[in-house]
Amino acid sequence: FWNFKSRTTLRFLTWFELLNIRPVSAARVSGRYLTHQKGLPGLPVPPLQQTCERYVRALEPILEVDELKQTRELVAEFQKAGGVGERLQRSLEKRAQNTENWLSEWWVLVAYLDYRLPVVVHSSPGLVLPRMNFSDKQGQIRFAAKLTAGVLDFKTMIDNETLPVEYLGGKPLCMNQYYEVLSSCRIPGLKRDSVVNHAKTSKHITVVHNFQFFALEVYNSDGTPLTADQLCIQLERICSASLQTNVEPVGILTTQHRDSWGKAYVNLSKDKTNRESVSAIQRSIFTLCLDGAMPQVSDEMLRSCAAVQMLHGGGSQWNSGNRWFDKTLQFIIGEDGVCGANYEHAPAEGPPIVALIDHAVEYTRKPEMAQTPMVPLPMPQKLHFNITPEIKKDIEEAKHAMNILAQDLDMMVTVFGHFGKNVPKAHKMSPDAFIQMALQLAYYRMYQRCCATYESASLRMFRLGRTDTIRSASSASAAFVRAFDDPSKPKVDLMEKAVNAHRSYTNMAITGQAIDRHLLGLKMVAVEEKLSIPDIYTDTAYAKALHYKLSTSQVPSKTDCVMCFGPVSSDGYGVCYNPMNDHINFAVSSFNTCKETNAAHLAQAVEGALLDMRTLLEQTPKAKL
Ligand code: COA
Repeated sequence: FWNFKSRTTLRFLTWFELLNIRPVSAARVSGRYLTHQKGLPGLPVPPLQQTCERYVRALEPILEVDELKQTRELVAEFQKAGGVGERLQRSLEKRAQNTENWLSEWWVLVAYLDYRLPVVVHSSPGLVLPRMNFSDKQGQIRFAAKLTAGVLDFKTMIDNETLPVEYLGGKPLCMNQYYEVLSSCRIPGLKRDSVVNHAKTSKHITVVHNFQFFALEVYNSDGTPLTADQLCIQLERICSASLQTNVEPVGILTTQHRDSWGKAYVNLSKDKTNRESVSAIQRSIFTLCLDGAMPQVSDEMLRSCAAVQMLHGGGSQWNSGNRWFDKTLQFIIGEDGVCGANYEHAPAEGPPIVALIDHAVEYTRKPEMAQTPMVPLPMPQKLHFNITPEIKKDIEEAKHAMNILAQDLDMMVTVFGHFGKNVPKAHKMSPDAFIQMALQLAYYRMYQRCCATYESASLRMFRLGRTDTIRSASSASAAFVRAFDDPSKPKVDLMEKAVNAHRSYTNMAITGQAIDRHLLGLKMVAVEEKLSIPDIYTDTAYAKALHYKLSTSQVPSKTDCVMCFGPVSSDGYGVCYNPMNDHINFAVSSFNTCKETNAAHLAQAVEGALLDMRTLLEQTPKAKL
């Protein structure tokens, strides 16, 4: 899984494989993107009664009976004819008619730009690629150059509007996120952040090595992207120009709590040189992090250590300062073959990032075809920072906070090698629903209760669509997990019902009929219209519904990789998984400060649950399923 040595580099690529690498179309198809976007439907506003009814149903597995009774009354009051719910619903429907997407702008603010915890661990996912076949500086530079060339190749498709449209369940998807992931950057504010995009003008990337930043032009004067050979020369020059290691890690400032970083940003930007350097990072296409060493760990912890490197860099003494975490996309390459990425979540979800990375990784495996022009290249420009005592103090504070966060994160990456999508498919079950039910069973076995569970569902069937929540804990899942270890209970029907209930919820969510974003929208209307917030939102049931002890996401890919992210509650887990055909990659996280959680224990419980569920399927005659 993690070691390419035995897979690709020891054999020659066949012509089929070569042809299978989609060639980038050079001819621009102007207007194609807008025409596609215009043809997409707008995000619907679900009926009020439907959401209210589904909300109460979603609370059943996670609330006590008396709590549920009170919430039912509040919901009945909210949805009654002529009540506040109807008023909010009308305003929301009006907003839906007058905007491209009634939700997206609000969502970016609520979920990201107004969210003040550090983007590191709390918001930005990491992506761990399989370990590559190099183990020294030269190999690191060579691979970084090839990967960069691969990203630029993908960028040509974005620039030319020739990116193939994606489909989900036979429906075309919104492609907007692809236009937001390159050349953009988050900017810290004192209370709210913002995102800038420089796609039209951006011609350079930023490279960071030994905590020092460089702007590297990646296009020749004739507009062609630099070849991997040219990039290699430039990266070598950067590494030679940044050998000193006792440099202030100014990038660590981006790991701070957003309010603190907002203040430090003002300090940093007082100086003209600093302002220009920060602006060069913000305007760049992406950041390439050429990392130094990480702590030595045992072989079985290598993947988990790689996930930590991608998620937060390991702390100030390792690579956390070798980043600019506000940058939407950072590629991270170690000297030991470990590589991956980190992305700032405001502009996009995982799937477009993974598609870009799949393409770039595929590109690195291709024998080089482009002819390298024999022209001298300009020296990459070092981005200088003047560190005043005040900035030095901000850096020290950021280091301290980052190290506490790094200590706190418990991360476990595992490969479930017994089966993948193949087994549930053979039993005519949705693999995603099967995995989600295994997570429910694992959690129940550890805690003897069900918890509010989040799974992201794509809303990209709609113009500018982002995500809604699939609530994986349902009455059907609760019945299934409670029965599973009880020898007196029949289980297979309950398992089938739970899996089917999950798949129905998924269908409801991806067609814009789930409850969470609708409830949020109604609340946002109340805020905007300065109405008092309805009681259903101040009810403890609502807080419980949003306290996700399991925050999960499926991010599939062609490359055998896995995405990872932190938990969204102090006593919960973050679980990201990539189901391949015959195995499943999992990244499970929790916080060490919470005594009740343990990432390795949950990962192990999931493995046990998946195996037990398969056994149950195999013991049941096919005709019964
Ligand atoms: N019998 C046999 N096969 C089935 C099946 C059944 N009953 N149900 C599904 N399958 C097949 C599907 O056809 C599909 O086949 P493929 O591997 O050839 O494509 C495969 O199993 C996977 O389907 P399923 O497991 O049901 O999941 P999905 O691909 O529909 O994905 C979500 C479900 C929720 C993950 C997806 O809809 C989604 O929203 N993804 C985006 C999530 C996201 O944005 N995450 C990032 C957040 S940062």
